[in-house]
Amino acid sequence: MVKICCIGAGYVGGPTMAVIALKCPSIQVVVVDISVSRITAWNSEQLPIYEPGLEDIVKQCRGKNLFFSTDVEKNVAEADIIFVSVNTPTKTQGLGAGRAADLTYWESAARMIADVSTSNKIVVEKSTVPVKTAEAIEKILSFNSKGINYQILSNPEFLAEGTAIQDLFNPDRVLIGGKETPDGQKAIQTLKDVYAHWVPEDRIITTNLWSAELSKLAANAFLAQRISSVNAMSALCEATGADVSQVSHAVGKDTRIGSKFLNASVGFGGSCFQKDILNLVYICECNGLPEVANYWKQVIKVNDYQKKRFVNRVVSSMFNTVSGKKIAILGFAFKKDTGDTRETPAIDVCKELLRDRARLSIYDPQVTMDQIQRDLSMDKFDWDHPVHLQPVSPGTVKKVSIVWDAYEAARDAHAICILTEWDEFKTLDYQRIFDNMQKPAFVFDGRNIVNVRKLREIGFIVYSIGKPLDPWIKDMPAVA
Ligand code: NAI
Repeated sequence: MVKICCIGAGYVGGPTMAVIALKCPSIQVVVVDISVSRITAWNSEQLPIYEPGLEDIVKQCRGKNLFFSTDVEKNVAEADIIFVSVNTPTKTQGLGAGRAADLTYWESAARMIADVSTSNKIVVEKSTVPVKTAEAIEKILSFNSKGINYQILSNPEFLAEGTAIQDLFNPDRVLIGGKETPDGQKAIQTLKDVYAHWVPEDRIITTNLWSAELSKLAANAFLAQRISSVNAMSALCEATGADVSQVSHAVGKDTRIGSKFLNASVGFGGSCFQKDILNLVYICECNGLPEVANYWKQVIKVNDYQKKRFVNRVVSSMFNTVSGKKIAILGFAFKKDTGDTRETPAIDVCKELLRDRARLSIYDPQVTMDQIQRDLSMDKFDWDHPVHLQPVSPGTVKKVSIVWDAYEAARDAHAICILTEWDEFKTLDYQRIFDNMQKPAFVFDGRNIVNVRKLREIGFIVYSIGKPLDPWIKDMPAVA
């Protein structure tokens, strides 16, 4: 029986290994983590992450060929294939701080593999890493090898949170990079055989190591660039009276462009886009390519601009002051169908509103009170370290209440900001909400999910990103 061990039981390690276990009953899969609380949760009824469809799979396989353990060393020693799916956050200190990837977690995993291994291993980079990381990992392993043969593969993960199980069941492609030597090709074939249990052969792409590593950074940069492009257009739409939904529909009909990932919003979030682009920018700079670096940097600048622009609209529409006013925040996760808040635009929007002395009442169907408190009291980039290593300081953020109902959040509020596109926000009883709010009652839709016309008929003043402006909002001078 082939044995797989995955180091890192997070948003990637957990779902990917659960699907491998489901699709490959002849393979034993053990997911290990240094976090006792995470592993305890994986072994409980309350999984540590919310992902549609995941719970069923874990229940089917757990205890049969899928195991979760904190005994990292034993399981690594016994495995034939080791996936490394640890976090690779942005460095917060030292050389490259704020841009370069922090490979501390990766390096310590590699050193541990070298320490405990007694048989040949295939080590698979699942985490998103800077191009050429495999070379560094190989050095660490081979200098400490004790005669063991290690083959390093790059197998970046392309799943999207919220649709992870669907994406894993039916991937657009699986990418495997390895060395062009006979041993490297043999290792690629071994990993290919795992995926071939359910992925059609023509969707499994093999490349050299550096192409695989760089493809992941490139894919995230291209995806984020589309969002920043449509968001940049949304500002122009507001200035000209065009409607960004109509523009992106018309543009997306061009088959060379395509319709996906063209929705304007308050900005992209999630643990990957910003960190991976910053990393790409750093790599370009290190390779003497400042023009290329600046091109990609602009994608992040537009994203920051979009969040700021949204807050400016809120404040300027409400007579240039939100001081002491209650604002309901609907949605805190970075997208629907996940409880993940890493780099969610809601953090920046809420922090800005708090700086302007607003009182916030926040509701999200999947994010815990602790997590919201932590996010609002943490410095930028600190979020990207494992949740169990983050300080919890309940009560740090005054002027914030976290509630478990959208109606409760909006009661007596002056305004509602929709920051996550949860389906339930589309079907709320907005008349009931309006009746219980201060007047004039504002809706600022950061995800373009409400029916603007209907809400205006109820009496709301509505701002929806990139849509023709409400006459009220048009007449208010925008804050610089
Ligand atoms: P995560 O933070 O949810 O999980 C990482 C886990 O690794 C944590 O539970 C941590 O305790 C554990 N860990 C760290 N060092 C360890 C060690 N030495 N030994 C054992 N466990 C250790 O991170 P997530 O979101 O799963 O991301 C992992 C990697 O996958 C990152 O490089 C990310 O960029 C990449 N990725 C993430 C995607 C996402 O949607 N979250 C999608 C595609 C790639």
